[in-house]
Amino acid sequence: MAKEKTLDDLFLDTLKDIYYAERKILKALPKMARAAQSEELKAAFLQHKEETEGQIERLQQVFEVLGKRAQGKTCPAIEGIIEEGEEIMEEFKGMPALDAGLISAAQAVEHYEITRYGTLKRWAEVLGLKEAVQLLDETLQEESKTDESLTALADASANEMAKAA
Ligand SMILES: [Fe+2]
Repeated sequence: MAKEKTLDDLFLDTLKDIYYAERKILKALPKMARAAQSEELKAAFLQHKEETEGQIERLQQVFEVLGKRAQGKTCPAIEGIIEEGEEIMEEFKGMPALDAGLISAAQAVEHYEITRYGTLKRWAEVLGLKEAVQLLDETLQEESKTDESLTALADASANEMAKAA
């Protein structure tokens, strides 16, 4: 009979999922910054790249809390989301709607991360992993702020620019 799988197994699997996703995002962000038309959006992507480096370190600390080796597990969801962002880069290159599209792609990434970190934080609470709760919550707050600032950038200029003929 197969070994019973419990919340510990789910927690570790999901941690590997987001670890894989963060490292993919780290690679995608400089490309998105290069593609962005407005200086503000370029700067926002580069700032989030730096934050992402810190988030990866926090995940490594969570693996340490568990006494496990930091290891990723292929996450088809993030690959799909990033692929859609690349499509926007190609199909809207040089177009007024490019930045609005890049913001929408980045927000899809943020929302994926928010759902993962939200779940992991709750599970860490249930499992009594206090230090992990703290680390996961810090990143969760950061991702939410990033999402909000992307909304602000869209409202401030990108959406209007996208509309203009
Ligand atoms: Fe992240």
